[in-house]
Amino acid sequence: MDARDGTYLSKSMQYELSEDAGRNASDNPTFGDIVNARFGRRDMLRGGLGVAAMTALAIPAMSLLTSKAAKAAVGGFGFEEIEAGVDETHHVAAGHTAQVLIRWGDPVVAGAPAFDPENQTAAAQEMQFGYNSDYVGYVPLPRGSETADHGLLVVNHEYVNSELMFPGLANAEGEYDLADLTPEQIAIEMAAHGLSVVEVRKEGDGWAVVPDSRYGRRITALSTMMTVSGPAAGHDRLKTSADPEGRNVIGTFNNCAGGTTPWGTILTAEENFHGYFAGTLPEGHRETENYARYGAPDGSYAWSREHARFDVGQEPNEPNRYGWMVEVDPYDPNSVPVKRTALGRFKHEGAESIMNGDGRVVVYMGDDERFDYLYKYVSDGRVDLENPASNGALLDEGTLFVARFDEDGTMEWMPLVHGQGPLTAENGFEAQADVAIETRRAADLLGATKMDRPEDVEPNPTNGRVYLMLTNNTRREAGQENAVNPRPDNAYGHIVEIVTPDGDHAATSATWEILVKCGDPDNPDHGAAWHSDISANGWFGSPDNCAIDPQGRLWISTDGNDFEYSGRTDGLWAMETEGERRGFSKLFFRVPVGAEMCGPKFTPDGKALFLAVQHPADGGSEWPGFGRPSTYADPSTRWPDFDPDMPVRPSVVVVTRDDGGAIG
Ligand code: FEO
Ligand code: CA
Ligand code: CA
Ligand code: CA
Repeated sequence: MDARDGTYLSKSMQYELSEDAGRNASDNPTFGDIVNARFGRRDMLRGGLGVAAMTALAIPAMSLLTSKAAKAAVGGFGFEEIEAGVDETHHVAAGHTAQVLIRWGDPVVAGAPAFDPENQTAAAQEMQFGYNSDYVGYVPLPRGSETADHGLLVVNHEYVNSELMFPGLANAEGEYDLADLTPEQIAIEMAAHGLSVVEVRKEGDGWAVVPDSRYGRRITALSTMMTVSGPAAGHDRLKTSADPEGRNVIGTFNNCAGGTTPWGTILTAEENFHGYFAGTLPEGHRETENYARYGAPDGSYAWSREHARFDVGQEPNEPNRYGWMVEVDPYDPNSVPVKRTALGRFKHEGAESIMNGDGRVVVYMGDDERFDYLYKYVSDGRVDLENPASNGALLDEGTLFVARFDEDGTMEWMPLVHGQGPLTAENGFEAQADVAIETRRAADLLGATKMDRPEDVEPNPTNGRVYLMLTNNTRREAGQENAVNPRPDNAYGHIVEIVTPDGDHAATSATWEILVKCGDPDNPDHGAAWHSDISANGWFGSPDNCAIDPQGRLWISTDGNDFEYSGRTDGLWAMETEGERRGFSKLFFRVPVGAEMCGPKFTPDGKALFLAVQHPADGGSEWPGFGRPSTYADPSTRWPDFDPDMPVRPSVVVVTRDDGGAIG
């Protein structure tokens, strides 16, 4: 059974299938005779690689630090780690408190009705917190301040688990037919996607959502109007019957991770957009090859039944209007979100940015699909923090680069510029708009390095380094390894550290090392490599989102650990990146059964940590403690309410330390 036949598979299965649909068929090099991983501290490793095999080049341990580095002392993690495992609830390290801050269905927009799961409406959902939170951003109030106890949370709602949302929809197998969704349920699904903006403040020992805040806002797939800027704005390939100008798009969806700009706006990443489109392109349509590279249309949702724009037979250009990076100004609830096409069109995972030493903004972005690429964008102009409204234009004029990792431990950032190299009319690129719309094909032609699913990629402002989460790639076969993706059948993923020259994020070259190869170091089949001191709880697989805390330390949240896979749920691990304990990690927080760990986001003082618990109770059969498919009526957990009248609810949690100090 396949979603494309109109029958619902489990959402996690569907998600996995969909991430393969636009598989990279380019012949960019994947072969390498390098069997050695590159590690900076080879003497401290534990795992599948013998010391004799680790003969890779040494890299100078430190690059020049940015000015902020002098102020930031990188300290170790003092908390006592928790035990890995699986049960119905969340767990946090002793001495810390994890409080559920906001749940699916809670009020967001002033005047929102109370959550009534048995009588859901799209009108209510458009005012309430959406489903399946992924990215969590925190911007201080007022704008431009460093306020750590009062600000706006901006939360992505990536997708929906309709079998867990709607009473009576799924059968005992957790399945349903797309045809069984009512028009109102389809509208609820669309309203549960997008983003929420909520005002939050510290109150006593905990945090609270400010009720009826003037900042409270929902942005949805159903009704929020957005504009398009940059090279593809107004291009013929973006025009539709509803938008003959090619500049006004309804909504955003599959918003996975994102980032916060130096001027306090949020970038939200449109990831697996292909799944929402159905139908068949007219024979010989010019977008056939373009859409095939992205796996569209995939037909995983029923939205095309109610909205012709999701049927490519009726609106063949509509998929070109998604897959972008969208900028949202959370401080102005009336602001119109902008699709910034200069940042390229692909299955955008995240968009963490940094103000470079010369004042330009640099945005790092992964394309989360097996064998796809790592990108960055460098603005032409410089950030003006005195004039925040002027800075959005920096995301329209600049250069998009794609990464090529070389086997000697260096890398090149290759510009995706029309007219340069193969990006010419002979190859179908008439203008920069075509490079933006078909970013993947342009990157194929430049010979970018095929990666093991680039998820979050985050610059560390304290030392000029950049951390890249490569979540996994079980389709990489023996013989397809390359130096930066050294494992075939890479089920556990790895983390790469990029060392910018003199802390210059705009430079077109850099060096790199593998920080850790994930998996169980005591299981030789995993081929993992970790610091020798980690405990049985300290390892993980499938690194996905990450955060750098104010001390410059790395925190990693995972997507893919479960009982069958590892005997442990997803969670948040803290990892040392400096000194003798570089690569050492400890488990800080774990999610309830079925969930993925998202966020994470620290307040500027490091004393509060926001975490998103995405798709709790997803699946169910693989956990012997439950052993059957989860449904609305019978979920594997009713986290976080544990109320028989409440469904399981994806939620955002805030963690604080009981003595009021910095987390960790
Ligand atoms: Fe939505 Fe790439 O995870
Ligand atoms: Ca992700
Ligand atoms: Ca991040
Ligand atoms: Ca993921």
